[in-house]
Amino acid sequence: MGRVTAFAVLIGCLALTSATNLNQGRDNPYDLSNIVYMTNGITAIATYHLGNLQAANETVITKLFLNITYDNPQRVRIRITDMQNTRFEVPYDFTNYTIQGNAGLYNVTISANPMGIQVVRQSDNRVIFFLDPSLWFSYDDQDILFTSNYGYGINALGLGERITSFIIPQGTYTLWARDRPSPLDDGQSQDANMYSSQPFYMIIDQETGQAFGGLLYNANAMSVVIGPQSLTFRTTGGIIDMWLFIGPTPEQVVFQYHQLIGPPVEIPYWSLGWHQSRYGYVNVSMLQQVFDNYTNNQLPLDALWNDIDYMSAYEDFMFDPVTYPLNNMTQLVDALLATGKNYIPIVDAGIAQNNSDPFYINGTSSGVWIQNPYTKNAACVGQVWPGNATFIDWLNPNAKNYWVSSLNTFQQTVSFSGIWLDMNEVSNFVSGCVGHEPTLINSTTMPWTPGQDLNTNALDVAATHQNGVTEYNMHSLYGYLESKTAAQYFIQKQTRPFIISRSTFPGHGKWASKWLGDNYSQWSFMEYSIVGIFNFGMFGIPMVGADICGFLGNTNLELCSRWTQLGTMYPFSRNHNDANSIPQEPWAFGPLLIETNNVSIRNKYMLQLYIYTHMMKISSEGGQLFKPAYWEYPSDMNLLYNATSSFMLGKALIVHPCLWYGISGSTSFFPDDMWYNLYSGEYVFLDYENSAYLDMPWPGLINIHVAQGFIIPIVDNYMSAMSLRDTRYSNISLIIVQGPGVEATGSVIFDDGSTYGNMANNNYLEVEYQFFSHNSTFDYLTLQQLQSGYKRETGEWPYISTLIFYGCTAAPESVFKLSNGLVPTYIPANVYWSAEDMICKIWLKNYLQPDEMATLLIDYFI
Ligand SMILES: *[C@@H]1O[C@H](CO)[C@@H](O)[C@H](O)[C@H]1NC(C)=O
Ligand SMILES: *[C@@H]1O[C@H](CO)[C@@H](O)[C@H](O)[C@H]1NC(C)=O
Ligand SMILES: *[C@@H]1O[C@H](CO)[C@@H](O)[C@H](O)[C@H]1NC(C)=O
Ligand SMILES: *[C@@H]1O[C@H](CO)[C@@H](O)[C@H](O)[C@H]1NC(C)=O
Ligand SMILES: *[C@@H]1O[C@H](CO)[C@@H](O)[C@H](O)[C@H]1NC(C)=O
Ligand SMILES: *[C@@H]1O[C@H](CO)[C@@H](O)[C@H](O)[C@H]1NC(C)=O
Ligand SMILES: *[C@@H]1O[C@H](CO)[C@@H](O)[C@H](O)[C@H]1NC(C)=O
Ligand SMILES: *[C@@H]1O[C@H](CO)[C@@H](O)[C@H](O)[C@H]1NC(C)=O
Ligand SMILES: *[C@@H]1O[C@H](CO)[C@@H](O)[C@H](O)[C@H]1NC(C)=O
Ligand SMILES: *[C@@H]1O[C@H](CO)[C@@H](O)[C@H](O)[C@H]1NC(C)=O
Ligand SMILES: *[C@@H]1O[C@H](CO)[C@@H](O)[C@H](O)[C@H]1NC(C)=O
Repeated sequence: MGRVTAFAVLIGCLALTSATNLNQGRDNPYDLSNIVYMTNGITAIATYHLGNLQAANETVITKLFLNITYDNPQRVRIRITDMQNTRFEVPYDFTNYTIQGNAGLYNVTISANPMGIQVVRQSDNRVIFFLDPSLWFSYDDQDILFTSNYGYGINALGLGERITSFIIPQGTYTLWARDRPSPLDDGQSQDANMYSSQPFYMIIDQETGQAFGGLLYNANAMSVVIGPQSLTFRTTGGIIDMWLFIGPTPEQVVFQYHQLIGPPVEIPYWSLGWHQSRYGYVNVSMLQQVFDNYTNNQLPLDALWNDIDYMSAYEDFMFDPVTYPLNNMTQLVDALLATGKNYIPIVDAGIAQNNSDPFYINGTSSGVWIQNPYTKNAACVGQVWPGNATFIDWLNPNAKNYWVSSLNTFQQTVSFSGIWLDMNEVSNFVSGCVGHEPTLINSTTMPWTPGQDLNTNALDVAATHQNGVTEYNMHSLYGYLESKTAAQYFIQKQTRPFIISRSTFPGHGKWASKWLGDNYSQWSFMEYSIVGIFNFGMFGIPMVGADICGFLGNTNLELCSRWTQLGTMYPFSRNHNDANSIPQEPWAFGPLLIETNNVSIRNKYMLQLYIYTHMMKISSEGGQLFKPAYWEYPSDMNLLYNATSSFMLGKALIVHPCLWYGISGSTSFFPDDMWYNLYSGEYVFLDYENSAYLDMPWPGLINIHVAQGFIIPIVDNYMSAMSLRDTRYSNISLIIVQGPGVEATGSVIFDDGSTYGNMANNNYLEVEYQFFSHNSTFDYLTLQQLQSGYKRETGEWPYISTLIFYGCTAAPESVFKLSNGLVPTYIPANVYWSAEDMICKIWLKNYLQPDEMATLLIDYFI
């Protein structure tokens, strides 16, 4: 358990805001001794040698332990801890952490006088970490500072949470969970950090385009200075616990990181559909109207959400008896469930301090509240929506029971399918604990502060958790620990956690998901949402999206239409709006937006099996669904510099969103490959710089193109389905994309879509489709079961109805199924070929099931 950070007034002379100032002309003040080289790493003792030259009145930690472990061939860990005292460390959650003890693909060298550490990637001899002995290093109680000096130009990515460009501009960035709606962070203010703390970065070498990553596993307030060739970390506490991921491709960095933190939680099948929410559904009849309007407009819907409007006096779990009578509510939720739709209520972090609130009473009797540092045995009271409120100490051994049983109680009131965890930074409308000035923590009392008073809109930094651990250390962990605990509620029922949280920390994705918080109804925020989804995908939270059409401010027809086209490509697609803004439901602007919503949602439905298959694979292997095209084509740096103008969904699909007002098409860049329009099969002729002009119709569909070599499963009933549940009972088609001499492959995962642990327990079906070009008269298509752990229910996944070939150069004549002895059996089918469009179609007349083991022989006219 961490030691209580001293709040004794320290008269510091280091009121520096920029960490780089410290570096000038000062060597590392520690020397290494007792160096032990082992096959699985290096250990040493670092001793402070400055003596009276000590720079300031700070608690310098004079003896450090350096422990470098060669985790595996792609990952190295550098831990530097206090030898004499235990310091605060993040409650550890990487259950799969293993040390293979093999330096493998990197070399680590150290220097002793003064201390220096260098990690070099063997494949190209590039530095991926360098604690340069000639640069300043400090390890004080409240000021740990170190620089990694690469010696070549870098592009830095990651380091959330903030609104900024994908390649983060040089500057200084704060990490400290903060409820602050979306300022633009250009690295100048140090006061634009947002909801999460995600101290993971990826560096792209500007010269070679190769990538590596790093995680500083530290929850304290920190700042990171991004220099032209260096990263400087400065934190207010904790320890140095740094993992490095050697890449060398961006995608490999992501997998290496996810292998450490654990792959993300499995999400329910339905959650990939369409979600409608708004702050301002003031009563149950309005919520009912929204549901009815979806039905009356023939618009699909998968979940209807409730913001704090449902609450009585803004108390969690309590329906307002006048505006949201329980009978009406349960009727509405039953009707939603009966039509395959879901209900998701918000739950705020603060529990109303109200002696007649049963949830407050239970929490008080279980003693789970974060404590006031100035009043013995009293909760630290903050002020949020209900007024005075108390907050759960997730280190308290009773916290889990309390939270899980509260959710169980709530479930008995209303059948929610997921929960929305808001205000969990943890946010506070005042600063500190009500009734006492916040503990003074500015540059008078601290060696430094990261750009802001840490008490601002937070609980008092001196508020205490179990065993005296302070909020100073715990603050940025609230949302993550709350979500992790809430996940237990779902897991005990064997259902998949569907938790959308605002605040996150490394490890969050294993339990819960995320939305990007309060954005603005502005074109620029639509574009920033793409960066946000890239980043949280890297952080191991692939189920993420931004409020479609924008939250704060008024949207308009064109912006909302474009955003709906883009938003249906987010893994998590939710239209959500502020109470003070004009309505933005699909019918709010007349038939054009209804049409855009209709075709866009159905477009996502069409791809449901492709998307779900990826999300399930990611939940067992890590990785991203929605990712920069650069990840797939890392030899083209333009794709990195142009990251938001297109993005990939998996390996096969590229999406070009329309991010600009008043246009109907644009010159668009593609990675170097052969691309076909997903909808029409039309081949894209690229010019010398791999660009082509794309029409961007509005209303209409967003541009999606498919690369050669892939087989895309298509849900046939996407135009009639009213929720994703309906798509489970649909025939499917396969779009098979050939190129000259290229074979094609694809796969589908199908399961019950809701039970927790299906991937780990092999309770799923996985079918691989492979296309082989045999000779000018015959091709083969094989269907192979890779996993058969799910038995389809009656009516589920009936048939493969159609094979659609893009890039098809001959007319199909007939189809045979090869049985074991390779005796061909004729399969009745209708065939079609357009020589001009190079498209073939084979209608299989409901003969073949999607998970059948089979080889088809396709015979062509010559
Ligand atoms: C440390 O504090 C003492 C007493 O407050 C002061 O006299 C001294 O100058 C300080 N030293 C430094 C290096 O700031
Ligand atoms: C070094 O760190 C590794 C990984 O955390 C740990 O297993 C090992 O015990 C540490 N070594 C020492 C000497 O503390
Ligand atoms: C744990 O990591 C190993 C490789 O180090 C991997 O093979 C395994 O799938 C991982 N298990 C889980 C549950 O993530
Ligand atoms: C890295 O270590 C390997 C194995 O010890 C050695 O052969 C190689 O020369 C080293 N490379 C560098 C760049 O130090
Ligand atoms: C609740 O339902 C009843 C019966 O249908 C209806 O009379 C009442 O107006 C509803 N209340 C609200 C707040 O919608
Ligand atoms: C539902 O649709 C009707 C008719 O277009 C409209 O008047 C009403 O405002 C809509 N209700 C909501 C809550 O959007
Ligand atoms: C809020 O809490 C403070 C401190 O406990 C208390 O003094 C105050 O009376 C409370 N306010 C209300 C409205 O309960
Ligand atoms: C309070 O705790 C008791 C005992 O665990 C439990 O039975 C009850 O349902 C809880 N009440 C609420 C509102 O969660
Ligand atoms: C720190 O806060 C105290 C009390 O508000 C104030 O007097 C002092 O000037 C502040 N110091 C700085 C450097 O802002
Ligand atoms: C985007 O890519 C194209 C070529 O692929 C390039 O000409 C252009 O400069 C890039 N844009 C940026 C901002 O790098
Ligand atoms: C194509 O392959 C089939 C089966 O191997 C063979 O029977 C046929 O003669 C071949 N056709 C040509 C044109 O080579």
